Amino acid sequence: MTFAPQPDAPLQGHSGMATPAKAAWLHTASSLAELQAAQEFAAQRELDLLVLGEGSNTVFTQDFSGLVVLNQLRGIRMVEETADSVLLDVAAGENWHQFVIYCLEQGWFGLENLALIPGSVGAAPMQNIGAYGVEVKDSIQSVTYVTHEQPKEQMLNAQDCEFEYRDSVFKHRLAGSATITSVRFKLSKYAQVNLSYAPLSDRFKNSSPTAREVFDAVCQIRSAKLPLPAELPNCGSFFKNPVVSEVKFKELQEECPEIVGFETADGIKLAAAWLIERRGWKEKSLQGVRVHKEQALVITNPNRSAGEIVMKYAHQIRQDILDWSGIELEVEPRIY
Ligand code: EPU
Repeated sequence: MTFAPQPDAPLQGHSGMATPAKAAWLHTASSLAELQAAQEFAAQRELDLLVLGEGSNTVFTQDFSGLVVLNQLRGIRMVEETADSVLLDVAAGENWHQFVIYCLEQGWFGLENLALIPGSVGAAPMQNIGAYGVEVKDSIQSVTYVTHEQPKEQMLNAQDCEFEYRDSVFKHRLAGSATITSVRFKLSKYAQVNLSYAPLSDRFKNSSPTAREVFDAVCQIRSAKLPLPAELPNCGSFFKNPVVSEVKFKELQEECPEIVGFETADGIKLAAAWLIERRGWKEKSLQGVRVHKEQALVITNPNRSAGEIVMKYAHQIRQDILDWSGIELEVEPRIY
């Protein structure tokens, strides 16, 4: 196989935030062999290697001097079927939302609350995507990946993926070295809809919706709040929701009785969107970069401004929240 990556290639179309940047080399991998060839190419030339799914959670702040590979491995394969469930191996380059629709059409349930999340299947376990009361870890059985050192595929069971809120081993021990090639999902043949997110339970008060109805509601709620990256560049939530102790929460509540927080096993999870809105950021922008008017946790980049501007604006928000409340917001997307 001849491996011929494109030199000096624009990256703007390969990142949710659409900041201008170039890669020294760019290649699209449609097979495992091509992915392995890319790893070899980078190793031989001592180049940094960056593998992207659809880049929906990535911000480039400068040119990338190594090799960027677009992971477009495709395929959905049923591994096992019982009376109650299916096991599916799904290639990392499949589009997430199309996969959710496919499962719903087949009568395989569990992913309907995760509809319309931008990005690829391979990116889903990386940050343990979650929305409307569901996290993808609940449906994952294992994740298969290759590393720079070990081009043969290895498998990690879900319990070893260290899944947490928007977090996994792929953002820590395996960060920068592992490329996810496929994800094994276990889905139920019986719909057990999850209405734990208040706007969903409000909508279906006194009724028992089907999975399809929940999917439609999620699509509606999401579309009303969250801009599509292709129409208005953004990376979804720019910060994680911070978790604080009960003592800290009470302290904040004394100052602002309306503060929004939800109890979790680790403490009180604050709505970062509320903090950002409360501090007036819906009225502030930096060279066009601004938080979204329907959802203050989303930073948008309508003019496709430089990554440095996006990060400067994000850091201004962070500093302001820190000075005001003592809370450090953690940036959620991957920054290069
Ligand atoms: N709120 C505001 N101002 C806003 C938006 C929200 O004050 O502009 C307050 C409201 O009180 C609302 C609360 O914040 O009740 C929570 O807002 P929302 O339900 O929209 O959720 P979120 O906590 O801001 C998280 C995820 C989203 C996911 C939604 C729904 C994170 C970092 N973000 O946002 O995920 O779609 O819940 O489950 O946890 C993403 O990760 O990219 C993402 C979009």
